[in-house]
Amino acid sequence: MERSEAGAIKILTVVGARPNFMKAAPIIAAINAHNERLVTGYAGRPESRVETIRHILVHTGQHYDEVMSGSFFNDLNLPKPDIHLGTGSGSHATQTAEIMKKFEEVLLGEKPDTVVVVGDVNSTLACALVTSKISFDSDGSRSVIAHVEAGLRSFDRSMPEEVNRILTDHVSDLLFVTEESGLQNLRNEGVPADKIHFVGNTMIDSLLHFKEKAEASTILEKLGFLGQGRKNGGANSSTRYALLTLHRASNVDNRGVFLNIMAGLEELATDCPVVFPVHPRTRRRITEFGFEFSSSGSARKHKENVPGSGNWRGGIILTDPLGYLDFLCLMKHAALVVTDSGGIQEETTILGIPCVTVRENTERPITVECGTNTMAGTKTDAIKDAIRRQLGGTRGNGVPKNWDGRAGERIIDILVRRHYKKTSFRSSRIPHTEPLEGRYACP
Ligand code: UD1
Repeated sequence: MERSEAGAIKILTVVGARPNFMKAAPIIAAINAHNERLVTGYAGRPESRVETIRHILVHTGQHYDEVMSGSFFNDLNLPKPDIHLGTGSGSHATQTAEIMKKFEEVLLGEKPDTVVVVGDVNSTLACALVTSKISFDSDGSRSVIAHVEAGLRSFDRSMPEEVNRILTDHVSDLLFVTEESGLQNLRNEGVPADKIHFVGNTMIDSLLHFKEKAEASTILEKLGFLGQGRKNGGANSSTRYALLTLHRASNVDNRGVFLNIMAGLEELATDCPVVFPVHPRTRRRITEFGFEFSSSGSARKHKENVPGSGNWRGGIILTDPLGYLDFLCLMKHAALVVTDSGGIQEETTILGIPCVTVRENTERPITVECGTNTMAGTKTDAIKDAIRRQLGGTRGNGVPKNWDGRAGERIIDILVRRHYKKTSFRSSRIPHTEPLEGRYACP
């Protein structure tokens, strides 16, 4: 049984790994905006009840480096976490179990009305699972579990993220969906329609909000790509370049697959510089496999380790992982992005930048339908072909439904109305800018 106490609503949001931060930021911003509206709405009427949302931010510590976590809090204006579980790295089982043990204590102490989990990382599943099994009292009351970015499916159960997605969705009470395929997948899996809400994409809320601010990034200058554009007040790169990210275990933990992918980039790297911010997992593998980046851009076995960040290695420039604003700036001005990330497929869709995804499948088919993204797999020739096609083709310009910067606002609107519907508090007393209900409920 879910909790249904009257009074102020208490929401606990979980973040843990890099892709969580930009998905959670708009939800926290929407909570702040809601609270401000309430305070303003009740100003001069102290007799009226002011039911602001109490928010608690929990960081599991799945990612802990400054470059993987800390810098994102600054860039995205995220508040300092109220609670940090300090979990750190480990095998899937160890990491998930550690988060579960620590999160259980937090949940029992805080007893929030709603636990919001985002995305598909181990922290997402760990905290959803704990919440689904906790009882706060003898009635078995517990927090509502809200999953943001629900319903995405790659139909590839060898991906840890796919297991996390399916299990999280099936223990959640509210499923906030980003694209049409998510609705369909949840329906096919028998999830009741009243749990599902097509709200849009909070990661895109962040992108739209920070797109202009990212222009102030100095990353293009640091890479030596900036010419007249900056002097004229813009960040337009005078150097044509491509951007590469690789971190998926299936791509970088296997030496052969990693080499095939790098060989697929050979032509691209002779055509233009390829900026490669290297994820810690990937950096470790580069060192372990003894890869050196040759001038043609391919990786080969070499005695030397790959040196530190920012060094030219022919056509491929290795850097440390970048902050949110620097990376957004680089994406905006790139001729092409090659990636195995899920979120970057979505971000390039909105930016209208051609994207080559080095995976066999995507859980985000809307990015292919909109025309910016193409699936290349991990075979050398297929990657080369996809790059040629993407560089030569016309740019897609479709905007997925509800990717309009208001997903966080819709989510908070639903959570608040749902909470007060179950209490004696009249939801008509909640001030809001315009009625959102009905535009995004599951049809
Ligand atoms: C995790 C997510 C993946 C997401 C990715 C973004 C899961 C199953 N995977 O993968 O979906 O796309 O984050 O980065 O949750 N490390 C550091 N510093 C850090 C964090 C990690 O050095 O701050 C190193 C550690 O050696 C660690 C390795 O990176 O063992 C992998 O980190 P982990 O969180 O296990 O998975 P990711 O590959 O980052």
